[in-house]
Amino acid sequence: MKVSLENVATKESVRVDVHSHIVGLGLGPTGAPLPMGSGLVGQQNAREAAGIAVELIRAKKLAGKAILFAGPPGTGKTALALGIAKELGDNVPFSMLVGSEVYSAEVKKTEVLMEHLRRSIGLRIKEKKEVYEGEVTEFTPVEADGAIGGYEKTISHVILGLKTVKGTKSLKLDSTIHEMLQKERVAVGDVIYIEANSGAVKRVGRSDSYATQFDLEAEEYVPLPKGDVHKKKEIVQDITLHDLDVANAKPQGGQDIVSMMNQLGKPTKTEITDKLRTEVDKVVNRFLESGVAELVPGVLFIDEVHMLDIECFSFLNRALESSLAPIVVFATNRGKCAIRGTEIVAPHGVPVDLLDRLVIIKTMPYSKEEIAEIVKIRAKIEDITLDDGAVDKLSTVGAQRSLRYAIQLLTPASILAKFSYGAETVVQDHIDELINDENPLFLNARQSAAIMKEQGGYLQ
Ligand SMILES: Nc1ncnc2c1ncn2[C@@H]1O[C@H](COP(=O)(O)OP(=O)(O)OP(=O)(O)O)[C@@H](O)[C@H]1O
Ligand SMILES: [Mg+2]
Repeated sequence: MKVSLENVATKESVRVDVHSHIVGLGLGPTGAPLPMGSGLVGQQNAREAAGIAVELIRAKKLAGKAILFAGPPGTGKTALALGIAKELGDNVPFSMLVGSEVYSAEVKKTEVLMEHLRRSIGLRIKEKKEVYEGEVTEFTPVEADGAIGGYEKTISHVILGLKTVKGTKSLKLDSTIHEMLQKERVAVGDVIYIEANSGAVKRVGRSDSYATQFDLEAEEYVPLPKGDVHKKKEIVQDITLHDLDVANAKPQGGQDIVSMMNQLGKPTKTEITDKLRTEVDKVVNRFLESGVAELVPGVLFIDEVHMLDIECFSFLNRALESSLAPIVVFATNRGKCAIRGTEIVAPHGVPVDLLDRLVIIKTMPYSKEEIAEIVKIRAKIEDITLDDGAVDKLSTVGAQRSLRYAIQLLTPASILAKFSYGAETVVQDHIDELINDENPLFLNARQSAAIMKEQGGYLQ
């Protein structure tokens, strides 16, 4: 039986996560926060500070240092950290971890941290490679004669025509390259290049001359390449230290850049040891010194940092000393509390020696107006229509309880409206029905606790 997933994902089943509306920090050209921007509302001091952090990260001035977002629950700490990631863009590595994720039966705590630290350090490698580049003018797979039995035809080779501004060339290529061409979905009119050594195929985009009259196309149009079809081209590749660790966990070949890179993408199951990492670091440092590669310190975001214990903290403290350290962003909603694994009480549950390295960005509770704006943004993202009364009710609830609670009510309210009342728009009454004081459909934590107290608990 052939299983296809293509028709399964309908609009309804697309999962919308709670931070999907955040696309940046919403700062103006001078770095001042817009009242509303990139999906963010209010919290302007913290957003401006986060913007400065982004600039420092870009200027590589924060490596080995750390930022802590501190503030009450639901004040946007996680949201802002993700905003930083969005501002930094795809070329800066960003890795995320929740404090409690370090506790696993299979992997040591420090190993989890180490892996994440190394996922957050990028290398940009520039290499001059021999390539064939051009717009595809012909793409003809040639079937092998007299294939042995079976229904499938085998491809013996493929004829590929490539055109540049300067000229055209027709290539006869091996069948393995045919597979790669198919994987990249190469068609006539695409601009591609093929690495001469490895035969790796890269689709750059669609050629300008094929740009259609339709604007709504998820297609990148690129100009016809200049120069010869066969030439040397500088190729930039972004990888992380973790990619190199994994790729070299089963070392084969030498430690020059080509063989290290060739390990990429080959599946291995060997454990990554400290020794291996030291070796990788040595080679990386050589790359850096010789100018083949450039270091791109990225960001490791550790949410709910109070869940880390003293062992993790001292490991992090040492890791931050390394010359290959990323910028670490922490977040916590704890004030003073005990450092996990000790009885020492410290601000935010973080040891003082680590606190000394941090700059702290404070987040504040939202006003009712700000909550109303955020509720509207979320409703739009979740495709839920609210009338003004519903927005008002939700923002009142949000201001009394928490922003997250208000956002959380959106989906149940829209389901109630649809199925119990056949209504497309959520109105205040629907929300009242969910959470009123007398006979609510859903209790909030405070109501629930009050009932437990009244009844003396469940176990009697
Ligand atoms: N300023 C804001 N603008 C728009 N949406 C926001 C803003 N602040 C928070 N949100 C949204 O509100 C919800 C709660 O915020 P978030 O999860 O960031 O809070 P938090 O401070 O990390 O809370 P906790 O301490 O409980 O982890 C999320 O869905 C988040 O995307
Ligand atoms: Mg959070």
